[in-house]
Amino acid sequence: MTIGEFKPGLEGVPATLSNISFVDGQNGVLEYRGIPIDVLAQQSTFLETAYLLIWGQLPTQLELAEFEHEIQYHRRIKYRIRDMMKCFPESGHPMDALQASAAALGLFYARRDLDNPAYIRGAVVRLLAKIPTMVAAFQLIRKGNDPVQPNDNLSYSANFLYMLNEQQPDSIAARIMDICLILHAEHTINASTFSAMVTASTLTDPYAVVASAVGTLAGPLHGGASEEVILMLEQIGSVDRVEAFVDQKIAQKSKIMGFGHRVYKVKDPRATILQKLVEQLFEKFGRDEYYDVATTLEHVVADRMGHKGVYPNVDFYSGLVYRKLGIPTDLFTPVFAISRVAGWLAHWKEQIGENRIFRPTQIYTGSHNSPYVPIKERIDSSTNGLGT
Ligand code: COA
Repeated sequence: MTIGEFKPGLEGVPATLSNISFVDGQNGVLEYRGIPIDVLAQQSTFLETAYLLIWGQLPTQLELAEFEHEIQYHRRIKYRIRDMMKCFPESGHPMDALQASAAALGLFYARRDLDNPAYIRGAVVRLLAKIPTMVAAFQLIRKGNDPVQPNDNLSYSANFLYMLNEQQPDSIAARIMDICLILHAEHTINASTFSAMVTASTLTDPYAVVASAVGTLAGPLHGGASEEVILMLEQIGSVDRVEAFVDQKIAQKSKIMGFGHRVYKVKDPRATILQKLVEQLFEKFGRDEYYDVATTLEHVVADRMGHKGVYPNVDFYSGLVYRKLGIPTDLFTPVFAISRVAGWLAHWKEQIGENRIFRPTQIYTGSHNSPYVPIKERIDSSTNGLGT
């Protein structure tokens, strides 16, 4: 392989064969197992969508009821995990808390039996069931409260909002939360999914797979962007400052958060659905002061950067939805993880079904036969060899 053939970021390089999801970045299409995302957002639930992604087909009524029941049964977390979280610093980022807690699950469910469908199902159920509980638990613990136990009478998303806000959510808020989880559940081989697949390919346990994916999702160029979007809208402050902000970013060649995508060169279809959800939430619960700043920003960026295919991505409007649902800004990415765990598990299952360990190659750009300089003869570059 020559340097000319090297693709930074592996752009456009196929890394697997997969039938889980499909993206057409030119036409703004996203499908899970062939079903368009807008159809799922309208008609499905997050748990049904997770089942579809992981097992490849929509469940029957009985299969869904059993799956929901198993998840409900496993929502509680062990008191030792809660106690472990109580030792985490309150100032720590909730994504770090989630990564550590997801990895800790591997200590409690240590058996690794990847050829056994019952083991696979058990791990899927535990991860889907416990991750929302862990996210909500850390939020309450860092406020100095004891975590709220899951409520068996509430659906998956309603229960998450209940554990987080310590009160039963409005039914529209719970449904919108569920749609957000559907929208974020899967997106082909993005960075965190690739990370999950690489980890899965070593045949380690699924808790390690999810923990490594959580760590990857945390970065500002991936899941962390929705958090950055809200900080950016706060920084812009008002509609009349949008144009100057965009022009300054362009001049500095720095990225505007919530815009651009490696695959989509038009507006992300999930952003379109999320924008409608934002408006629905505003009708019921009142407008967000930053919405007008956001829509103006979308127009100005389209005007200045549209020719490069830079349009809103999934993270642009999701933060405004989450704010209205009472979710603190630094929990946006953990909420993304609650949803994306479905996609990670689907790729984990697909990967171990026909596994080959990932071991790409590199193009070496270093030297050969370099001299080993004895330590006393080495020049300290920080002091230019002059000593202190
Ligand atoms: N703001 C300003 N310019 C952007 C941009 C953004 N958010 N996203 C892309 N561009 C520009 C690039 O500067 C580049 O311009 P150039 O050709 O003049 O150099 C061009 O569009 C292509 O972008 P590139 O950085 O090559 O795209 P990528 O596929 O490597 O990166 C992202 C994709 C998502 C990493 C990038 O768009 C980004 O950093 N966005 C902001 C963070 C974000 O919202 N992440 C969430 C993704 S879901």
